Order: sequence, then structure tokens, then C-alpha cells
Amino acid sequence: METKSTVKVIFGANLLEIPACEVQCVADIRSAVCEIFSLPDGIPALLDGVSCDNGQPVCPGNVVEFVRKAGKKEGFPLFGSKLDKAGNYPKPEYDLIIEPFAGSAGYSMHYGFGTVWLNDLDKDIYDVWQYLKTADREDIERLPELKAGEDIRDFNLTNPEILLMGYAVNPYSTGRRYICTKWAEKGREIQEIKNRLLHSLERIRSWRITCGDYRTLPDIEATWIIDPPYQHGGKHYNPKNHKSFDYRELAAWCRSRPGQVIVCENELANWLPFKPIMTMNGRKKNYREYIWTNIAAFMRKLRRAV
Ligand SMILES: C[S@@+](CC[C@H](N)C(=O)[O-])C[C@H]1O[C@@H](n2cnc3c(N)ncnc32)[C@H](O)[C@@H]1O
Repeated sequence: METKSTVKVIFGANLLEIPACEVQCVADIRSAVCEIFSLPDGIPALLDGVSCDNGQPVCPGNVVEFVRKAGKKEGFPLFGSKLDKAGNYPKPEYDLIIEPFAGSAGYSMHYGFGTVWLNDLDKDIYDVWQYLKTADREDIERLPELKAGEDIRDFNLTNPEILLMGYAVNPYSTGRRYICTKWAEKGREIQEIKNRLLHSLERIRSWRITCGDYRTLPDIEATWIIDPPYQHGGKHYNPKNHKSFDYRELAAWCRSRPGQVIVCENELANWLPFKPIMTMNGRKKNYREYIWTNIAAFMRKLRRAV
């Protein structure tokens, strides 16, 4: 099909080329695409990268992209967390999910209904997960619901409770936080996080939690969700560690994982051939999520096995 006479339509990893003579405006494409992919009617669209409405005419050579909205949030909101977008990543192919750079483990919170292994180098993150693994419902229900300006250190909490509450009083922060922000109070963040954790507490109990460098994990077949500090933008986690982070070594390690491998990054990264997986409807502007996955290698192996 000649590209000049078609309109390209993108949704996530799907690319369709529609003969331009068959469509006149975005609405024509929207109704066809919503039906094929069972998309919600109101899903936002971009015409050649710019927001557009249904009546916008389309011409040969135009690119129309449908943008995904963030999904239901799960777990606690750490900087760089995949809490509300995990459902847009490929589904796990294995019962065992391993997150070597776990953070708040958005992927496992969404898909982790089998065996889950979370690892993180950061002892604070490890302590929060250990706490969640053994906490009972009453522990979570008892956590105080602060007003803006209040300090979690004034509430007679244990250290892991203070660490966990830090993400609730100042969502998406990179390190320890103590004071409740206006935004957290207004958005009822603490109540929301408590509800979400109560919902997942039972399955977290069986998860394996370790604290160490990603290279200490064994070569076992699993769904590997590898979400390291971003090559460009990851220095917030621990600037000292970040400087010495060897992405070439990490790339080789990712390629050597047995099983299904999904590596997350942003558009600036070049240590693996990352591809855009989705355009997300952000709070301030749209942005793209990138992944590298060995799914092709996995499929080849599967075909050889049958
Ligand atoms: C982008 S965050 C992970 C976000 C996570 N996917 C989520 O949904 O919240 C990266 C994590 O890697 C951890 N980290 C940094 N260097 C590490 C290393 N060498 N080994 C293991 N974890 C590391 C950081 O502490 C941070 O929690």
C-alpha cells in the first residue's frame, strides 16, 4: 500500500494504514478503531502529534494516534512509579514475576497474582515492603490521616510506617518526606493509599522481598520487569550510585535474562533499542513510555519447542 495515499493510525504498538479515500475526518477513524480495539469512545486523539477533535479533516500522509489514559492506581506513589500505567505493559507470560528494581512495584501490584519477587537496593524501600508483607489490616487502618502541614514524625509511628507514610503525604517523591502537602490533603492521598493497600495486602504476604544490587539475582526463567533509574532523569534516586551506573553492563544483563523480559525507559535512553509503547495522557502534557522486550526471541524459542 502506498503510504502517500493512506492515513496512519497508531494505538499503542498497533499501526494501521487506512486508505485516505475511505475517511474524511478523525471521527471516521475513531469509530472504526474503537470497534477494532474495543477502545472507550472518549479516548483522546492526536493528529500529527497535536490534540484534535472529531471534526478535524484528515489528509493522505496524516498520522492519527489514540492516547491511553492512566488506569487505576495501585500501591504507593514513588517517583517513577508505574502505578497507573502497568495495565498498558505486556501481560506476564510466566507465573513468576521478578522486579529487580522494584520501587513501588506498579507492575506486580497490577499483574502479580502468582509468585512475585521484589528486589531493590534501597533499604528504605525494602523496609516498606517487609512491613507490608507482615502488616495486618488493623495496622493499615490505624495509619493517621494528616492535614496539610502536619508532620508524620509527630504521630508515634514505627520507622517503616514513617517511610510508607512519606509517600502518602508527599506522593511521587524520591526520598524521605515527612510533611503533608496541600495536594496530598486535597486529593485524599492517604485515604486512597490505605484503601489500595488494604485491597492487596493478602497477596503481598507471599511475595519474596530482597535488598541488593540487581546483579545478585539468579538466572531463572520468569517475567522480568526491569525498570532501572532512567539513563536521563534517574539521578534523583541516588546521585552517587547513578554516576557509576553502567548501562552497557545492564543491557547485557537484560539480554541474558531467561524468560520474558520487559525493560522500561524514556525516549532519551539509547542503551537498548527502545520502542515507544504508548502515548500517555499526562496531567500537564502527553508523554511517551518506551520499552525493550525480548518477546520476539521468546516467540522464536516457543516455535522451536513445538
Ligand atoms: C524507576 S524506579 C522503579 C519504579 C517501579 N517500577 C515502580 O513501579 O515503582 C528504580 C528503582 O531502582 C532502585 N535501584 C537503583 N539502583 C539499583 C541497583 N543497582 N539494584 C537494584 N535496585 C536499584 C531504586 O532504589 C528505585 O527504587
